[in-house]
Amino acid sequence: MSKKIAVLVGSLRTGSYSKQIAKNMMNLFPEGYTPEIIEIGDLPLYNEDIDTEESTPKEYTEFRNKLADIAGVLFVTPEYNRSVPAALKNALDVGSRPYGQSMWDKKPAAIVSVSPGAISGFGANHHLRQSLVFLNMPVVQQPEAYIGNVTDLLDDNGNVNEGTKGFLKSIDDALVDLINRFDD
Ligand code: FNR
Repeated sequence: MSKKIAVLVGSLRTGSYSKQIAKNMMNLFPEGYTPEIIEIGDLPLYNEDIDTEESTPKEYTEFRNKLADIAGVLFVTPEYNRSVPAALKNALDVGSRPYGQSMWDKKPAAIVSVSPGAISGFGANHHLRQSLVFLNMPVVQQPEAYIGNVTDLLDDNGNVNEGTKGFLKSIDDALVDLINRFDD
């Protein structure tokens, strides 16, 4: 059976460069892997008061259910003020609860940071990495994926050139290797 890869994009913007990079990457997975963007924009800000045994927002439940059968996670995110956008951190928080029932536990992941600037989202990449350590997610170490000057890499249709395609595929492949290493 095909293995599902959750793709979480840190930007909610319609024309997001991060989403364009994510879509390129989704086309580059080997056969047997099905990447799927899991939307994070409708999740109410995490609040323990509304996430109780008696009731929880339907958006939380739907999000957690979508993560139930995933083999791994591909994070593609811009950097906001040298960290991850709040929407992505919120999604991590929602998926991590209720306590002891985190959907992220032991799921292999890869992180791709994207920026029109030259620093390439390094701060977001490493802040996200720090949260994933706590969430007990094995994360692709190499190759590292800092996609800077992204507007130079995308054509008018949102496609990357062959060289960039090869690099993005190497990230997908590293995630697939990690998934297979942790598969029981
Ligand atoms: C940014 N941007 C930005 N870029 C960067 O390289 N480092 C940063 O710390 C920030 N900080 C930041 C904060 C906020 C609130 C916004 C809205 C933007 C610029 C950002 O990289 C740019 O808007 C990208 O186009 C956002 O990614 P998407 O939406 O194209 O995926």
